[in-house]
Amino acid sequence: MGLFLPLMLQAQSLKETVGRDMLIGVAVNQWQVMGRPQQAKDIVRQHFNQLVAENCMKAQPLQPREGEFYWAAADSLVAFAEDCGASLTGHCLVWHSQAPGWFFRENGERVSRETLIRRMQTHIRTVCQHFRGKVIGWDVVNEAIEDDGSWRHTPYYDIIGPEFIEIAFRTAHEADPDAELYYNDYSMANPRKRAAVCRLVRDLKAKGIRIDAVGMQSHCGLDHPNLSAYEASIDSFAACGVKVMVTELDVDVLPAPKGFSGAEISQNFEARKQLNPWPEALPDSVNEQFEQRYLDLFRIYHRHRHQLSRITLWGISDRETWLNGFPVRGRTNYPLFFDRRYNEKPIVKKINELWTSL
Ligand code: XIL
Repeated sequence: MGLFLPLMLQAQSLKETVGRDMLIGVAVNQWQVMGRPQQAKDIVRQHFNQLVAENCMKAQPLQPREGEFYWAAADSLVAFAEDCGASLTGHCLVWHSQAPGWFFRENGERVSRETLIRRMQTHIRTVCQHFRGKVIGWDVVNEAIEDDGSWRHTPYYDIIGPEFIEIAFRTAHEADPDAELYYNDYSMANPRKRAAVCRLVRDLKAKGIRIDAVGMQSHCGLDHPNLSAYEASIDSFAACGVKVMVTELDVDVLPAPKGFSGAEISQNFEARKQLNPWPEALPDSVNEQFEQRYLDLFRIYHRHRHQLSRITLWGISDRETWLNGFPVRGRTNYPLFFDRRYNEKPIVKKINELWTSL
């Protein structure tokens, strides 16, 4: 008994370790919400206390044609989250990707500024009001800043100007005054991007506009981002008076195509054998690097636990990770905590042990 007791008392779940200090969550897809496979739901119940939609709350699926809103998929996610005892965050209201084609066009031409503002506000209002009381917060604006710190030239920026951001935040706040509001982006360790995001947060706050947190997507590789730069970004964002969230964590273990960095989802590179070296199984030596990388990241998260409000993995298992298709189609990637058969990888236990030991 004496021998078994410490084993039994060992924390078995991320909720019981990381989850004591902040939300620990995962992005889910429509199949998983429909209970396919059942293990997905079991994993969510065991390990996670927060969920986010991988796709179904984006503008394209919610409002594919003007004024026609489709709630069924997202509503079933709301029910799934309630059933799993997990809180839900909304992703995302204003983003240049996965927006419906009609949004930026009018009578075959580029939409006018007034019309785009109206459409953006209608979308935000309708969506925020629909999910009022169901989601705790929204990624209001996703990916508005380039890696060099300049504004990204999206239709929102080009047509409305940088004010689209404050209009979006104000509108979201009016529509759901209780919801937290976030700015979310990738490559956030980049010093110039970091500085631009800080300017944005300070600017919104100076205007009295609500912003609760900055989301660092954190699509990592084995050798990026630079961890001290990543840590410096957590400190800088927190110093602007907001919480910091890790919103889309994964660790891409495959070789990157030349010229690729970041997470701009429209990027695509030609498939070549060298870019998909492990179609059967991940070699032990690479798996060790994978584990080391996650342990390094979670050591940082623990150190910054008072500044972080959540960590969200971008998917449950390697079977359906978006990194099998991005930035090169048809690869076999291994970026997550559960393998293709939904078996828990040893990294989960290692993170639990690490967190309890710190
Ligand atoms: C990805 C999804 O995982 C894919 O299923 C989809 O095809 C494209 O979008 N940054 C984001 C996420 O904010 O919404 C993206 O999700 C990944 C990059």
